Amino acid sequence: MEVLKNKKTLQDFIERQKEMGKKIGFAPTMGALHKGHLSLYEAARKENDLVISSIFVNPTQFNNPEDLEKYPRDTDNDIAILKNSELVDALYLPQVEDIYPEKTESKHYDYDGLENEMEGKSRPGHFDGVGTVVEELFRKVQPDNAYFGEKDFQQLAIIRKMVEKKKLLINIIGVPIYRAENGLALSSRNQRLTDERKEDAKIIFDTLSKVKDWFKTTSIAEIKEKVNTVFNNQQNMELEYFLIADESTLQETNQREDDKSYRAFIVVDVDSVRLIDNMHLD
Ligand code: PAF
Repeated sequence: MEVLKNKKTLQDFIERQKEMGKKIGFAPTMGALHKGHLSLYEAARKENDLVISSIFVNPTQFNNPEDLEKYPRDTDNDIAILKNSELVDALYLPQVEDIYPEKTESKHYDYDGLENEMEGKSRPGHFDGVGTVVEELFRKVQPDNAYFGEKDFQQLAIIRKMVEKKKLLINIIGVPIYRAENGLALSSRNQRLTDERKEDAKIIFDTLSKVKDWFKTTSIAEIKEKVNTVFNNQQNMELEYFLIADESTLQETNQREDDKSYRAFIVVDVDSVRLIDNMHLD
């Protein structure tokens, strides 16, 4: 695996690959790699001649400085994981100046309102930061296909919208959530949980699975009440939000319509670690 440490080495590498007509699959990350990331590379491996990943903890997408500071970073370990996996051909480790040549500031994006729902309300500016770094990475890596986990479903929708609006010729591929045996969605943030808390946090997946069942027979208002009760009875856990939204607009719904697809979204704070999850409902 080639490790490309700045934009010049990346540019030379990409030029060579493009000259050879290679189809490029790309999965950008913020490191602290786990099996969820490996599932992105596995998907990319099947559909491309070459798989590229990047690791960059993007400062502009953190609205909370403490979260940025605490974000796990261990690039040597990540490189070892990638080499061992044999799934990735090149890893780009951008310098901050590669992404932000002047100020470390995000650009502003209009994602047709997708940015105003859920995480957009809880984390102002977050999706401007994500758009800025992903657009910059796309312009440098020039992938044919790019892979993102469905755990961050709103991010996936926003990146699809950005690509459509900027007319970038890149297929955006959503990869199903990779879960631990107990159902907990894998996330780099899970590293900050003790084994006991990881076990407690399985209640998030268990509850979403029940919501999927309840959705067949129960009103959305009642489902919300039931979910609130589940989390009110949990110690060390606080429900930040639970809602059911139209899968295409991401707008919360309280009334189901037959021709629409719905998804449940949840954020729970477990011992000050913010865990996010979602599940398709019909
Ligand atoms: O999902 C992530 O890891 C990040 O938001 C991304 C897409 C790499 C942008 O920094």
